[in-house]
Amino acid sequence: MSTHVPFNALRPGVDAADVRAAIDRVIASGWFVLGPEVEAFEAEFAAASQVPYAVGVGTGTDAITLILRALDIGPGDEVITPPLSAAYSALAVMMAGARPVFADIDPARLTLDPHATEAAITSRTKAILPVHLYGQAADMRAFEGIAARHNLALIEDAAQAQLATFDGRAVGSIGIAGATSFYPTKNLGALGDGGAVITRDAQLAARIKRLRNGGQTSRYHHQEAGANSRLDELQAAILRARLPYLADWTKRRRAIAGRYRSASVPPSLSVPREFDAGHVYHLFPVLTSCREAFQAHCLVQGVETLIHYPVPIPRQPALAATNPAMCPVGDRVCAEIVSLPMYPALSDDQVSTVMGAFSSFVPPTR
Ligand SMILES: Cc1ncc(COP(=O)(O)O)c(C=O)c1O
Repeated sequence: MSTHVPFNALRPGVDAADVRAAIDRVIASGWFVLGPEVEAFEAEFAAASQVPYAVGVGTGTDAITLILRALDIGPGDEVITPPLSAAYSALAVMMAGARPVFADIDPARLTLDPHATEAAITSRTKAILPVHLYGQAADMRAFEGIAARHNLALIEDAAQAQLATFDGRAVGSIGIAGATSFYPTKNLGALGDGGAVITRDAQLAARIKRLRNGGQTSRYHHQEAGANSRLDELQAAILRARLPYLADWTKRRRAIAGRYRSASVPPSLSVPREFDAGHVYHLFPVLTSCREAFQAHCLVQGVETLIHYPVPIPRQPALAATNPAMCPVGDRVCAEIVSLPMYPALSDDQVSTVMGAFSSFVPPTR
């Protein structure tokens, strides 16, 4: 009987006592929204992200929306974004009142394609929103060039890429701002929803702090129509308890990825390349045109898999009204991609089980 390998494991593990102590501390304090835990977490997360400012918000989606709003990007404006991501990347653009415009992905890197991006620029384009997908940075050198040439804001969706680097530079510190998510499955996850904006720009950070809190400049004085999107004290305390583990957890993810990459690859499967040693392996996707059979084969061996993502964002009914451009590479990848289990608590035996399932796959004859 082989080892069972669930797709994820979200119950606190080595950090359980620290998480419990953090929860107890907040309960004892009697202070639950915008207090000392959020302030301390913002400073600690900014330092870990190698930027001067972090602003805790309600979700990663809100982080993107609030960056756009703080840059005065909204109705009538276009933001270029990839078809392959969590749909929230594009939904956040719509929540700001702007239109997401889809440029195709690079077939090897699986992130926004710089050439397609440049071709999608119009007079209404205000920002580029690359997504550092699966833990690997998009081609930020190319996007810095495009943003500078066309005078566009470069905003990084770093929800899946906490602590990732591009050519040694921390993601989120390259563009004007980065958005991250603390959704429980993320590399640094809360026990509920949470998100943050990271930036080097003091004015932008100050405006986002105002926007997350109803646009208030002082208590009950609303300067502008802000949102109500705050990271709460409990989640901030939990994230503070977990942040010291993140570097080790990232190392473990990389070690697991190294083992997966050492497995023999059957002809019907392919493994996307690692472009940057700063990859933090939020997910470990592989590609196959026999996905259903591969998932069934893995399950028989006790290995759970999931699909990130089955539907290209521009093909989502929710996007129909925005008249989105279709992206053929994104279409193909969404039809072939499948994620293997990837989280720090995987045991060496479980990793071996996944490798065995992966390497032994033989597609059914048609
Ligand atoms: C790439 C990406 N962007 C944005 C989001 C949105 O984050 P949240 O779920 O915290 O709103 C997620 C996670 O769902 C994501 O994976």
